[in-house]
Amino acid sequence: MPSRPSLFPLSAQDMEGRLTLGSCDAVELAQRFGTPLYVLDEETIRGNARQFRREFAERYPDTSIIYACKAFIHPWVARVLAEEGLGMDAVSAGELFILRQAGFPADKVYLHGNCKTYEDISFALDMGVGRVVVDNLDELELLERMVEGKGKKMRILLRLNPGIDPHTHKFLTTGGVDSKFGFPKPKAEEALREAMKAKNLELTGLHFHLGSSIFEVEPYIQAIESVLGFAHRMRKAYGFILQELDIGGGFAQPYTLDSPSPPLSYYAEAITAHLKQGIEDPSPLLVVEPGRSIISRAGVALYRVGGRKETASGRRYILVDGGMGDNIRPLVYGSRYEAVVAGKLREEATEKVSIGGKFCEGGDIIANDIFLPEVELGDVIAMPGCGAYCLPLQSNYNASLRPAIAVVKNGEAHLIREREKYEDLVRHDICGSLEDIPGQ
Ligand code: LLP
Repeated sequence: MPSRPSLFPLSAQDMEGRLTLGSCDAVELAQRFGTPLYVLDEETIRGNARQFRREFAERYPDTSIIYACKAFIHPWVARVLAEEGLGMDAVSAGELFILRQAGFPADKVYLHGNCKTYEDISFALDMGVGRVVVDNLDELELLERMVEGKGKKMRILLRLNPGIDPHTHKFLTTGGVDSKFGFPKPKAEEALREAMKAKNLELTGLHFHLGSSIFEVEPYIQAIESVLGFAHRMRKAYGFILQELDIGGGFAQPYTLDSPSPPLSYYAEAITAHLKQGIEDPSPLLVVEPGRSIISRAGVALYRVGGRKETASGRRYILVDGGMGDNIRPLVYGSRYEAVVAGKLREEATEKVSIGGKFCEGGDIIANDIFLPEVELGDVIAMPGCGAYCLPLQSNYNASLRPAIAVVKNGEAHLIREREKYEDLVRHDICGSLEDIPGQ
């Protein structure tokens, strides 16, 4: 894949003009498992996890990498990342359930969330998660009450909102002054005092997460300086010792060739350098929470072309059998994607086209004005960068079936999720047929 090196998974290859993923022919995968199909490359997930551990630990040995489950979690992903030595950031009893099903070590799990329910917290306590990252005072009180009588203190971090704009999409910003997440600066001291007073809780550290798809390193540096400054003041005032600093995730990944993201080493270098300058003894554990940057590049969506069209204004569309039901990101965040024709990698990309999904909305366009070779009916379109946040945001819009997921490695492919069946569409409905409708 010489022309698209950074977008496709590590194992992707151009085999005489045909795309292979994990040494499996993409067109054959589409044939065998049906389309739309999400393909995950194991080598990329493991490679990214190792790279994170290496880049940070080389510079700051006391680092823990925890994967943000929200990007995509499945028992298989949990097992692979457990093998790679990562921890987990989970935000709901549902994500915790998946981790527990997978046998993921509970003490390496951090429970996040800005409105944790009673159920979320009790699941977390029963499971024995390692940390709860507290978002607000109501939660602090609830947690304190719920831990009472458990015989063991719950370790917590406070999520601070440093009020820093990370220059990303508005919806992907979580650390700005108006954000609903974390303790706003003027409330941070009160939160810390309350947390230190809580009998059943042990305040081990501080957390911030600025947002997602952050291309710059300056916002991280500003936030680290702000939080370390706060920790210093709290040490003097209350004897608070910062044992852990969790800097969230948010590292950008490339989706198109014209928007390359900085290498991980760039973030790791700047973050650890500033941390080392600002910390006091004992040096805290650094926690990093990548989601997208672990799994985005590992995923490729395969679609089948079902139609082509040229509008009255001359705009050309390739119509495919998926779209906003399996990838809502273009519609929600204006995300841009590239694509290739899986069996025609060596044909010249001469046609400027947009890829329209099959859903009944004008906004269901998953790629705009990209160049492809001449596309024929039945061709397989492969879209890179689909490993993060596509699958978790899927819907059954238009009563579509959520796609299958296949894992590829060393020439072998296996499903980790079947394509949904029509029965799944009514599985939770109370009335299965007209006769069942109450009152009929
Ligand atoms: N930590 C916390 C507390 C988070 O809220 C998030 C993501 C992460 C870590 C991981 O961030 P990442 O490394 O993946 O950027 N649905 C959106 C992304 C929302 C991200 C929410 N929080 C999308 O499709 O782009």
